[in-house]
Amino acid sequence: MSRHRQVLVTGATGTVGRQVVAQLVEAGASVRALTRVPEAAGLPADVDVVRGDLSDPRTLHTALEGIEAVLLVWPFAEAEGMPTVLEMTARHARRIVYLSSVAVRDHEQQAERLIAQSGLEWTVLRPHVFAANALDWAEQIRSGGVVREPYGAAAAPVVDERDIAAVAVRALIGDGHASAVHELTGPESLTRAEQVRIIGEVTGRPARWEEAAPEAARQQMLARGWPAEAVDGILRAQARMVTDPLPSTDTVEQVTGTPARTFRTWATDHADAFRALRAT
Ligand SMILES: NC(=O)c1ccc[n+]([C@@H]2O[C@H](COP(=O)([O-])OP(=O)(O)OC[C@H]3O[C@@H](n4cnc5c(N)ncnc54)[C@H](OP(=O)(O)O)[C@@H]3O)[C@@H](O)[C@H]2O)c1
Repeated sequence: MSRHRQVLVTGATGTVGRQVVAQLVEAGASVRALTRVPEAAGLPADVDVVRGDLSDPRTLHTALEGIEAVLLVWPFAEAEGMPTVLEMTARHARRIVYLSSVAVRDHEQQAERLIAQSGLEWTVLRPHVFAANALDWAEQIRSGGVVREPYGAAAAPVVDERDIAAVAVRALIGDGHASAVHELTGPESLTRAEQVRIIGEVTGRPARWEEAAPEAARQQMLARGWPAEAVDGILRAQARMVTDPLPSTDTVEQVTGTPARTFRTWATDHADAFRALRAT
């Protein structure tokens, strides 16, 4: 891999981006990280952390100066605004890696199309459900060992963010990924209830699933301020994963030479997040 490349990582403070930054630094690349709040970024000292907002392209000039490759994490539920960001990117960089999704929802489909037409050398990553989504259960598991949600039988080959990042890094600073669409999964399909059981096993404190009505979950998500369209999309996707789970792929191993991490490995490495704090 070419180590000297100057790479801009957007979403650098997020689940995947933070891992991409760490692995790029390890690979010897020169890394610039985009965030709206540099003071709170908590990124390694040798990373050039710059302020910028993807919803306001005028803030991106400094971030793109001297950049050769960009990881694009698009945090919006529509692709509006992306053409301007891509035009600016194409004026500086040669290569773009876009974090899409295996769901390829309307805005992701549109984004993939725009990227393919951008004139940049591109790679699309389509990860499946992130293992890190299990952190959403941490409070319920810490407080009583029971996760009450619908669709415990929904199965997915959940993928570790470190493996998504490992593929992203190859695509950003390696060769042979131009015009590739990489579908990224973990090594095996697990139901949501099985994931909770595994978390219980690795923490040493049993955890179990308790099936809740989809409507109750819907009301809870709406009460948290989530848009109705997104909530319904999540519930529809979970229902589909009960009847129609997607298979795992070996893309992580093909690209990195190392098999994708299991959910058990992810859970072991994050066990503390699920352990109740002991009173001292
Ligand atoms: N979760 C899943 O199961 C799953 C599966 C497949 C695909 N995906 C895709 O993964 C992507 C999210 O990745 P993630 O989970 O790694 O991110 P994340 O942890 O949700 O973090 C969001 C990132 O986006 C940045 N951000 C938010 N608004 C921004 C703005 N206006 N301008 C610039 N940066 C902004 C945040 O940076 P600052 O706050 O520091 O500015 C932060 O780094 C989404 O596109 C999602 O569709 C997720």
